[in-house]
Amino acid sequence: MTDYLLLQNPGHNRVYYNYAGNLAVAELKIAAQKFDTKCINVGIEQIEGVRYIILKTENELSEKDMQILSRLSFVFAVYERIIFENQNLFKPIPKASYYYIDEKISTILKYSGKTNELFTKMMINIALLSSNFDHKSKIKLLDPVAGRGTTLFEGIVYGFDVFGIETDAKSVQDSTVFFKKYIEKEKLKHSFIKRQIFGKNKSEAVYINEFEFSKTKYDFKTSQKRKKFGIIEGSTQEAANYFKNETFEIIVGDLPYGIAHGNSTGKNTISITRNPSELLSASLPSWYKVLKKGGVIVVAWNVFVASKHKISKIFTENGFDVLSEKNPDKFEHLVDNSIKRDIIVAKKY
Ligand SMILES: C[S@@+](CC[C@H](N)C(=O)[O-])C[C@H]1O[C@@H](n2cnc3c(N)ncnc32)[C@H](O)[C@@H]1O
Repeated sequence: MTDYLLLQNPGHNRVYYNYAGNLAVAELKIAAQKFDTKCINVGIEQIEGVRYIILKTENELSEKDMQILSRLSFVFAVYERIIFENQNLFKPIPKASYYYIDEKISTILKYSGKTNELFTKMMINIALLSSNFDHKSKIKLLDPVAGRGTTLFEGIVYGFDVFGIETDAKSVQDSTVFFKKYIEKEKLKHSFIKRQIFGKNKSEAVYINEFEFSKTKYDFKTSQKRKKFGIIEGSTQEAANYFKNETFEIIVGDLPYGIAHGNSTGKNTISITRNPSELLSASLPSWYKVLKKGGVIVVAWNVFVASKHKISKIFTENGFDVLSEKNPDKFEHLVDNSIKRDIIVAKKY
């Protein structure tokens, strides 16, 4: 048996860190199902006042297992525990490197209503680990409620092609300007185009701000090696009008909480509601179409405004298989007095 101790990423949000023990255990349990090595136990242990996530496996983690482990949102450092003369000895194990671009990108922009970056990364991991795809596939990710793009930035750290839909023009503009400045500063080879993606006439026109980029000029010459970042100023319930059927391997988003922002269910009819179930009912038929078979949706929402049962039912009614109901891991956590967040994991078969 091999005994690993995982030190958690402290992030910069104390409230999130306090809940992050349970979230880490839940994320690791999902990941461990994909390990070559059999997982014997996952849990939490305090050692000299510091919280560690423990992982006991039948054999040493394989190279593939280390790649999966290193990507998990909470993993800051990995040690193997060796007990020697009744003492814990920690042997540092190098993490596998996986960044396409520096992971700090999603931490730079600060604004109210931003989704915690580590939580966002966790949702992306759970979506991919629960899908029929893995990091070796070319992954296209959609955030259907993209805000200023935390999910999109976390996705490009992994080297995915990422697309967002966001109704708020200022958020779309801010994330576009930020990304443009970022890739210019980092001297990534890139192109930018604002093009019409939908609408027969001017009043219906919907636009996408789209970047293609790569780390080297050489890679940029080959379309397969170019990465894509696109954000649409539009309504998420129209996703199937913006993208071809079965475009995305994963869909990940943090639904409006009805607190800092409302959710508008149409471009011209701004109906502010506190209930994400309304947005889901209007949007899931469209999201279903643009998701590939074997693909997975992970969305977070505020349990105070809609129960898990209600949200699960909407997914099931729209043809999805709700995985998080069969495997009720502990993702529920308080963000503040008015937001208790949970996630739904749903697959298209
Ligand atoms: C919780 S925020 C997402 C924040 C984002 N993850 C971030 O970190 O920037 C939810 C977003 O959904 C957007 N939204 C609400 N209704 C929408 C709709 N019908 N179509 C597209 N976006 C919508 C809101 O404007 C808001 O920016």
